[in-house]
Amino acid sequence: MRYVFEPRKAVVERIDSSLNYLGALNPSSVHVNKVERDGRSYTLKYAKEAFGWGIDHISREREVLLRAGDVLGITHLVQDYEGVEGVGAAILKEFYEGRMVREDETPMVYNTQLKKQLTQTVSALHSRGIFSVDLHSANVVISADFSEACIIDLGTCVFAEDFKYTSLDDVKHHDMKDIDTLFRRCRLSF
Ligand SMILES: Nc1ncnc2c1ncn2[C@@H]1O[C@H](COP(=O)(O)OP(=O)(O)O)[C@@H](O)[C@H]1O
Ligand SMILES: [Mg+2]
Repeated sequence: MRYVFEPRKAVVERIDSSLNYLGALNPSSVHVNKVERDGRSYTLKYAKEAFGWGIDHISREREVLLRAGDVLGITHLVQDYEGVEGVGAAILKEFYEGRMVREDETPMVYNTQLKKQLTQTVSALHSRGIFSVDLHSANVVISADFSEACIIDLGTCVFAEDFKYTSLDDVKHHDMKDIDTLFRRCRLSF
């Protein structure tokens, strides 16, 4: 497949002409963009046809979001796109307004409620057969007042039925340990 360069704004408009492109959120081959429609912000994630890994990543996230439609504490699927020329996969998600957790910034906010809420979100994902949440600082956004956490990227999750040789209890434990690590590194709680 030949890769043809096209500015992100143009691709976004081809995917959905009702969206206004606001800017790029990441530099990777899975293009993550902030967009707006009727005064509301969203995230439009797409991968060009030439990027197999990116297509798999978005397709996986789409499946996860379909299964996790009623889970609180994640950005939900708003729209799914198919058949856009040169685009292998594209999804529109809610945008969560807040701040990234920066490991080097150490805001020193002692909020056990926040950790409890994130743990509940991960448990809810586990109960729907969604594991390996890849919880690290770039995938979690915190509300401005530090009262709420939102997992904004579920593109690397693995479904229970896909684990053939690993115990699900071990994977669950690993996800929960990631929450501890996140909070310890970012000193969001103690
Ligand atoms: N729904 C969202 N709400 C707020 N910020 C987001 C959202 N989606 C993405 N971002 C921002 O864009 C960055 C990249 O998005 P992500 O989905 O994690 O892409 P990648 O596949 O590159 O890991 C995030 O680290 C975050 O800063
Ligand atoms: Mg990410």
